[in-house]
Amino acid sequence: SKLIGILTSGGDTPGLNSAIRAVGKTLLHEGGYTLIGYLDGYRGLMENRFVELNDAYLSGIITRGGTILGSSRDKPHKMPVGGKIMDMTDVIVENYHSNHLSGLVCLGGGGTQKNSYRLANAGLNILTLPKTIDNDIMHTDVSFGYDTAMMIATEAVDRLHSTASSHHRIIILETMGHKVGWLALGAGIAGGADVILLPEIPYDEQVVADAILRRTREGKKFSIVVVAEGAMSKSMAKVLEEEGGKDKVEEMLKTRTPQLAAHLERLTGREARVTILGYVQRGGTPTPYDRLLSTSLGSRCAQEIMKDKWGNMMAVQNNRLVTVPLEKVAGPVKYIPKDHYLLTCVKDIGVCLGS
Ligand code: F6P
Repeated sequence: SKLIGILTSGGDTPGLNSAIRAVGKTLLHEGGYTLIGYLDGYRGLMENRFVELNDAYLSGIITRGGTILGSSRDKPHKMPVGGKIMDMTDVIVENYHSNHLSGLVCLGGGGTQKNSYRLANAGLNILTLPKTIDNDIMHTDVSFGYDTAMMIATEAVDRLHSTASSHHRIIILETMGHKVGWLALGAGIAGGADVILLPEIPYDEQVVADAILRRTREGKKFSIVVVAEGAMSKSMAKVLEEEGGKDKVEEMLKTRTPQLAAHLERLTGREARVTILGYVQRGGTPTPYDRLLSTSLGSRCAQEIMKDKWGNMMAVQNNRLVTVPLEKVAGPVKYIPKDHYLLTCVKDIGVCLGS
Protein backbone atom coordinates (compact mmCIF):
# COMPACT_ATOMS: atom_id res chain seq x y z
CA SER A 1 0.00 0.00 0.00
CA LYS A 2 1.23 3.50 -0.79
CA LEU A 3 1.67 5.89 2.11
CA ILE A 4 0.41 9.48 1.80
CA GLY A 5 0.89 12.19 4.42
CA ILE A 6 -1.39 15.16 5.02
CA LEU A 7 -0.99 18.26 7.18
CA THR A 8 -2.69 21.58 7.92
CA SER A 9 -0.55 24.69 8.25
CA GLY A 10 -1.15 28.36 9.08
CA GLY A 11 -4.25 29.85 10.73
CA ASP A 12 -7.06 27.37 11.19
CA THR A 13 -10.02 27.68 8.85
CA PRO A 14 -13.50 26.16 8.65
CA GLY A 15 -13.42 23.45 5.98
CA LEU A 16 -10.05 21.91 6.84
CA ASN A 17 -11.63 18.79 8.32
CA SER A 18 -14.02 18.31 5.44
CA ALA A 19 -11.04 18.59 3.06
CA ILE A 20 -8.99 16.02 5.03
CA ARG A 21 -12.04 13.76 5.08
CA ALA A 22 -12.49 14.00 1.30
CA VAL A 23 -8.83 13.27 0.52
CA GLY A 24 -8.94 10.31 2.91
CA LYS A 25 -12.29 8.87 1.86
CA THR A 26 -11.37 9.00 -1.83
CA LEU A 27 -8.02 7.28 -1.25
CA LEU A 28 -9.44 4.63 1.08
CA HIS A 29 -12.33 4.04 -1.27
CA GLU A 30 -9.88 3.48 -4.12
CA GLY A 31 -7.84 1.10 -1.96
CA GLY A 32 -4.10 0.60 -2.01
CA TYR A 33 -3.42 3.72 0.07
CA THR A 34 -2.74 4.48 3.70
CA LEU A 35 -3.15 8.06 4.89
CA ILE A 36 -1.29 9.53 7.85
CA GLY A 37 -1.93 12.97 9.31
CA TYR A 38 1.04 14.95 10.57
CA LEU A 39 0.23 16.96 13.70
CA ASP A 40 0.61 20.74 14.04
CA GLY A 41 1.63 21.53 10.48
CA TYR A 42 5.26 21.35 9.35
CA ARG A 43 6.34 20.99 12.98
CA GLY A 44 4.82 17.51 13.14
CA LEU A 45 6.55 16.63 9.90
CA MET A 46 9.86 17.72 11.37
CA GLU A 47 9.27 15.94 14.71
CA ASN A 48 7.76 12.90 12.96
CA ARG A 49 4.51 13.07 14.92
CA PHE A 50 1.53 11.61 13.06
CA VAL A 51 -1.65 9.57 13.36
CA GLU A 52 -3.13 7.09 10.92
CA LEU A 53 -6.28 8.51 9.38
CA ASN A 54 -8.40 5.41 8.98
CA ASP A 55 -12.08 5.38 8.11
CA ALA A 56 -13.21 5.73 11.73
CA TYR A 57 -10.93 8.75 12.23
CA LEU A 58 -12.41 10.46 9.19
CA SER A 59 -16.00 9.83 10.18
CA GLY A 60 -18.21 12.57 11.64
CA ILE A 61 -15.80 15.45 11.06
CA ILE A 62 -17.40 17.30 8.15
CA THR A 63 -19.20 19.69 10.50
CA ARG A 64 -16.24 20.33 12.78
CA GLY A 65 -14.43 23.67 12.69
CA GLY A 66 -10.67 24.02 13.11
CA THR A 67 -8.44 21.11 12.22
CA ILE A 68 -8.34 17.65 13.83
CA LEU A 69 -4.61 17.59 13.03
CA GLY A 70 -3.71 20.83 14.78
CA SER A 71 -1.85 23.63 13.01
CA SER A 72 1.08 25.97 13.45
CA ARG A 73 2.74 28.82 11.60
CA ASP A 74 6.12 27.07 11.67
CA LYS A 75 7.98 27.06 8.36
CA PRO A 76 10.33 24.22 7.33
CA HIS A 77 13.19 26.64 6.66
CA LYS A 78 12.57 28.87 9.71
CA MET A 79 11.58 26.60 12.57
CA PRO A 80 11.96 27.64 16.22
CA VAL A 81 14.05 24.86 17.78
CA GLY A 82 15.61 25.11 21.26
CA GLY A 83 15.26 28.90 21.32
CA LYS A 84 16.80 29.32 17.85
CA ILE A 85 15.28 29.70 14.38
CA MET A 86 16.65 26.88 12.25
CA ASP A 87 16.37 25.56 8.72
CA MET A 88 14.88 22.10 9.26
CA THR A 89 14.27 21.27 5.59
CA ASP A 90 16.85 18.46 5.60
CA VAL A 91 15.24 16.79 8.63
CA ILE A 92 11.85 16.98 6.96
CA VAL A 93 13.19 15.49 3.72
CA GLU A 94 14.90 12.75 5.71
CA ASN A 95 11.67 11.91 7.62
CA TYR A 96 9.69 11.87 4.38
CA HIS A 97 12.05 9.32 2.85
CA SER A 98 12.58 7.15 5.93
CA ASN A 99 8.80 6.91 6.38
CA HIS A 100 8.58 5.82 2.71
CA LEU A 101 5.99 8.43 1.83
CA SER A 102 4.74 8.48 -1.76
CA GLY A 103 3.50 12.02 -1.38
CA LEU A 104 2.42 14.79 0.94
CA VAL A 105 -0.73 16.95 0.88
CA CYS A 106 -0.43 20.39 2.50
CA LEU A 107 -3.55 22.40 3.32
CA GLY A 108 -2.88 26.06 3.82
CA GLY A 109 -2.90 29.69 2.77
CA GLY A 110 -0.41 31.76 0.83
CA GLY A 111 2.51 31.06 3.18
CA THR A 112 1.84 27.33 3.07
CA GLN A 113 1.82 27.39 -0.72
CA LYS A 114 5.28 28.99 -0.70
CA ASN A 115 6.63 26.53 1.87
CA SER A 116 5.16 23.62 -0.05
CA TYR A 117 6.85 24.85 -3.20
CA ARG A 118 10.16 24.90 -1.29
CA LEU A 119 9.61 21.28 -0.22
CA ALA A 120 8.71 20.32 -3.79
CA ASN A 121 12.01 21.86 -4.87
CA ALA A 122 13.73 19.75 -2.22
CA GLY A 123 12.44 16.70 -4.10
CA LEU A 124 9.21 15.84 -2.27
CA ASN A 125 5.97 14.89 -4.04
CA ILE A 126 3.63 17.65 -2.94
CA LEU A 127 0.04 18.65 -3.61
CA THR A 128 -1.76 21.51 -1.89
CA LEU A 129 -5.26 22.78 -1.20
CA PRO A 130 -6.13 26.48 -0.87
CA LYS A 131 -7.58 27.38 2.52
CA THR A 132 -7.90 30.85 3.94
CA ILE A 133 -10.56 33.15 5.32
CA ASP A 134 -8.69 36.01 3.60
CA ASN A 135 -9.37 34.72 0.04
CA ASP A 136 -5.96 36.05 -0.97
CA ILE A 137 -4.46 33.02 -2.77
CA MET A 138 -3.61 33.69 -6.40
CA HIS A 139 -4.86 31.56 -9.30
CA THR A 140 -7.96 30.34 -7.54
CA ASP A 141 -11.24 32.22 -7.62
CA VAL A 142 -12.06 31.07 -4.09
CA SER A 143 -10.48 29.35 -1.09
CA PHE A 144 -12.37 27.44 1.57
CA GLY A 145 -13.01 29.26 4.83
CA TYR A 146 -13.80 32.55 3.16
CA ASP A 147 -17.52 31.92 2.86
CA THR A 148 -17.85 30.90 6.50
CA ALA A 149 -15.85 33.89 7.73
CA MET A 150 -17.96 36.16 5.54
CA MET A 151 -21.13 34.71 7.04
CA ILE A 152 -19.90 35.32 10.59
CA ALA A 153 -18.76 38.87 9.79
CA THR A 154 -22.05 39.60 8.02
CA GLU A 155 -24.00 38.43 11.04
CA ALA A 156 -21.88 40.79 13.15
CA VAL A 157 -22.76 43.72 10.85
CA ASP A 158 -26.44 42.75 11.08
CA ARG A 159 -26.37 42.72 14.86
CA LEU A 160 -24.39 45.96 15.05
CA HIS A 161 -27.05 47.65 12.93
CA SER A 162 -29.68 47.32 15.64
CA THR A 163 -27.51 48.71 18.40
CA ALA A 164 -26.11 51.47 16.13
CA SER A 165 -29.63 52.49 15.23
CA SER A 166 -30.92 52.43 18.84
CA HIS A 167 -28.10 54.67 20.06
CA HIS A 168 -27.74 56.82 16.94
CA ARG A 169 -24.08 55.94 16.81
CA ILE A 170 -21.32 55.35 14.33
CA ILE A 171 -20.20 51.75 14.75
CA ILE A 172 -16.91 50.62 13.29
CA LEU A 173 -16.42 46.90 12.74
CA GLU A 174 -12.90 45.68 12.08
CA THR A 175 -12.71 42.42 10.17
CA MET A 176 -9.73 40.17 9.55
CA GLY A 177 -8.38 39.64 6.04
CA HIS A 178 -4.63 40.14 6.46
CA LYS A 179 -3.36 42.48 3.70
CA VAL A 180 -6.42 42.24 1.44
CA GLY A 181 -10.01 43.45 1.63
CA TRP A 182 -12.10 40.49 0.40
CA LEU A 183 -13.64 39.68 3.78
CA ALA A 184 -14.48 43.31 4.62
CA LEU A 185 -15.89 43.91 1.16
CA GLY A 186 -18.03 40.76 1.15
CA ALA A 187 -19.41 41.19 4.68
CA GLY A 188 -19.74 44.94 4.20
CA ILE A 189 -21.89 44.61 1.10
CA ALA A 190 -23.92 41.68 2.45
CA GLY A 191 -24.49 43.43 5.77
CA GLY A 192 -25.43 46.76 4.19
CA ALA A 193 -22.52 48.78 5.60
CA ASP A 194 -22.46 52.51 4.81
CA VAL A 195 -18.68 52.77 4.61
CA ILE A 196 -16.21 50.01 3.65
CA LEU A 197 -12.49 50.62 4.04
CA LEU A 198 -10.09 48.30 2.23
CA PRO A 199 -6.31 47.89 2.02
CA GLU A 200 -6.61 48.24 -1.76
CA ILE A 201 -8.02 51.81 -1.48
CA PRO A 202 -6.26 54.11 1.02
CA TYR A 203 -8.90 56.27 2.74
CA ASP A 204 -9.29 59.88 3.68
CA GLU A 205 -10.95 60.34 7.08
CA GLN A 206 -12.60 63.56 5.93
CA VAL A 207 -14.27 61.71 3.03
CA VAL A 208 -15.62 59.12 5.50
CA ALA A 209 -16.83 61.88 7.85
CA ASP A 210 -18.54 63.68 4.96
CA ALA A 211 -20.40 60.50 4.01
CA ILE A 212 -21.61 60.13 7.59
CA LEU A 213 -22.64 63.80 7.80
CA ARG A 214 -24.55 63.37 4.52
CA ARG A 215 -26.45 60.48 6.07
CA THR A 216 -27.25 62.65 9.09
CA ARG A 217 -28.64 65.38 6.82
CA GLU A 218 -30.79 62.73 5.14
CA GLY A 219 -32.27 61.88 8.53
CA LYS A 220 -30.29 58.68 9.03
CA LYS A 221 -29.17 58.60 12.63
CA PHE A 222 -26.55 55.88 12.52
CA SER A 223 -23.71 54.67 10.29
CA ILE A 224 -21.90 51.37 10.01
CA VAL A 225 -18.26 51.40 8.96
CA VAL A 226 -16.60 48.08 8.07
CA VAL A 227 -12.83 48.33 8.05
CA ALA A 228 -10.43 45.59 6.96
CA GLU A 229 -7.59 44.99 9.43
CA GLY A 230 -5.10 45.94 6.71
CA ALA A 231 -6.82 49.14 5.54
CA MET A 232 -4.71 52.29 5.62
CA SER A 233 -5.38 56.00 5.56
CA LYS A 234 -3.73 57.96 2.74
CA SER A 235 -1.07 59.22 5.13
CA MET A 236 -0.28 55.68 6.28
CA ALA A 237 0.00 54.59 2.65
CA LYS A 238 2.63 57.33 2.21
CA VAL A 239 4.57 56.08 5.23
CA LEU A 240 4.53 52.59 3.69
CA GLU A 241 6.50 53.88 0.74
CA GLU A 242 9.26 55.33 2.96
CA GLU A 243 12.31 53.33 3.99
CA GLY A 244 11.38 51.06 6.92
CA GLY A 245 7.77 52.05 6.31
CA LYS A 246 6.44 48.51 6.51
CA ASP A 247 7.25 48.12 10.22
CA LYS A 248 5.99 51.60 11.03
CA VAL A 249 2.67 50.91 9.31
CA GLU A 250 2.33 47.55 11.08
CA GLU A 251 2.69 49.41 14.37
CA MET A 252 0.17 52.06 13.30
CA LEU A 253 -2.35 49.39 12.29
CA LYS A 254 -2.51 48.16 15.88
CA THR A 255 -4.28 51.35 16.96
CA ARG A 256 -5.77 52.38 13.63
CA THR A 257 -9.39 51.43 14.39
CA PRO A 258 -9.82 53.21 17.77
CA GLN A 259 -8.04 56.22 16.29
CA LEU A 260 -10.40 56.24 13.35
CA ALA A 261 -13.32 56.24 15.81
CA ALA A 262 -11.86 59.18 17.74
CA HIS A 263 -11.26 61.17 14.54
CA LEU A 264 -14.75 60.46 13.21
CA GLU A 265 -16.27 61.61 16.51
CA ARG A 266 -14.35 64.86 16.21
CA LEU A 267 -15.19 65.38 12.54
CA THR A 268 -18.90 64.49 12.78
CA GLY A 269 -19.85 65.36 16.36
CA ARG A 270 -21.44 61.92 16.71
CA GLU A 271 -20.63 59.14 19.12
CA ALA A 272 -18.53 56.31 17.67
CA ARG A 273 -17.88 52.80 18.99
CA VAL A 274 -15.51 50.07 17.86
CA THR A 275 -15.94 46.29 17.55
CA ILE A 276 -12.91 44.21 16.60
CA LEU A 277 -14.31 40.88 15.52
CA GLY A 278 -11.12 38.80 15.74
CA TYR A 279 -10.88 35.04 15.93
CA VAL A 280 -14.61 34.39 16.06
CA GLN A 281 -14.41 34.81 12.27
CA ARG A 282 -12.32 31.63 11.98
CA GLY A 283 -14.27 29.53 14.45
CA GLY A 284 -16.98 26.94 14.23
CA THR A 285 -18.68 24.85 11.63
CA PRO A 286 -18.19 25.56 7.90
CA THR A 287 -21.06 26.76 5.71
CA PRO A 288 -22.51 24.33 3.14
CA TYR A 289 -20.59 26.21 0.43
CA ASP A 290 -17.26 25.73 2.23
CA ARG A 291 -18.07 22.07 2.87
CA LEU A 292 -18.77 21.52 -0.83
CA LEU A 293 -15.70 23.46 -1.90
CA SER A 294 -13.31 21.70 0.48
CA THR A 295 -14.83 18.28 -0.22
CA SER A 296 -14.57 18.67 -3.98
CA LEU A 297 -11.03 20.10 -3.83
CA GLY A 298 -10.05 17.26 -1.48
CA SER A 299 -11.42 14.49 -3.68
CA ARG A 300 -9.83 16.10 -6.75
CA CYS A 301 -6.53 16.12 -4.89
CA ALA A 302 -6.86 12.39 -4.21
CA GLN A 303 -7.53 11.85 -7.92
CA GLU A 304 -4.22 13.59 -8.69
CA ILE A 305 -2.47 11.36 -6.14
CA MET A 306 -3.88 8.29 -7.89
CA LYS A 307 -2.59 9.65 -11.20
CA ASP A 308 0.80 10.22 -9.54
CA LYS A 309 0.77 13.89 -10.57
CA TRP A 310 2.55 16.23 -8.16
CA GLY A 311 3.66 19.81 -7.69
CA ASN A 312 0.25 21.47 -7.99
CA MET A 313 -2.37 23.34 -5.98
CA MET A 314 -6.02 22.37 -6.51
CA ALA A 315 -7.97 25.45 -7.52
CA VAL A 316 -11.27 26.77 -8.84
CA GLN A 317 -11.23 28.84 -12.00
CA ASN A 318 -14.41 29.90 -13.78
CA ASN A 319 -16.45 27.33 -11.87
CA ARG A 320 -14.16 24.43 -12.77
CA LEU A 321 -11.69 22.49 -10.66
CA VAL A 322 -8.19 22.88 -12.05
CA THR A 323 -4.61 22.27 -10.96
CA VAL A 324 -2.10 25.13 -10.83
CA PRO A 325 1.69 24.60 -10.62
CA LEU A 326 3.01 25.53 -7.15
CA GLU A 327 5.61 27.66 -8.84
CA LYS A 328 2.83 30.00 -9.99
CA VAL A 329 1.02 30.09 -6.65
CA ALA A 330 4.11 30.79 -4.57
CA GLY A 331 4.05 34.50 -5.31
CA PRO A 332 2.25 37.69 -4.40
CA VAL A 333 -1.16 37.77 -2.72
CA LYS A 334 -4.45 38.28 -4.57
CA TYR A 335 -5.68 41.82 -3.99
CA ILE A 336 -9.15 42.92 -5.08
CA PRO A 337 -8.68 44.07 -8.69
CA LYS A 338 -9.61 47.71 -9.30
CA ASP A 339 -12.21 46.68 -11.88
CA HIS A 340 -13.79 43.92 -9.77
CA TYR A 341 -17.58 43.83 -10.15
CA LEU A 342 -18.11 44.07 -6.38
CA LEU A 343 -16.23 47.38 -6.28
CA THR A 344 -18.38 48.71 -9.12
CA CYS A 345 -21.44 47.46 -7.27
CA VAL A 346 -20.64 49.21 -3.96
CA LYS A 347 -20.04 52.47 -5.76
CA ASP A 348 -23.34 52.05 -7.63
CA ILE A 349 -25.33 51.57 -4.44
CA GLY A 350 -23.70 54.58 -2.79
CA VAL A 351 -21.41 52.93 -0.24
CA CYS A 352 -18.47 55.16 0.70
CA LEU A 353 -15.06 53.60 0.07
CA GLY A 354 -13.28 56.47 1.81
CA SER A 355 -11.65 57.95 -1.24
O1 F6P B 1 -4.85 34.33 7.53
C1 F6P B 1 -5.90 34.22 8.42
C2 F6P B 1 -5.81 35.24 9.51
O2 F6P B 1 -6.89 35.05 10.37
C3 F6P B 1 -5.71 36.69 9.04
O3 F6P B 1 -6.97 37.20 8.66
C4 F6P B 1 -5.08 37.34 10.20
O4 F6P B 1 -4.39 38.49 9.81
C5 F6P B 1 -4.14 36.29 10.72
O5 F6P B 1 -4.62 35.06 10.26
C6 F6P B 1 -4.01 36.20 12.21
O6 F6P B 1 -2.90 35.42 12.50
P1 F6P B 1 -2.67 34.57 13.83
O7 F6P B 1 -3.60 33.39 13.77
O8 F6P B 1 -1.26 34.13 13.74
O9 F6P B 1 -2.97 35.46 14.97
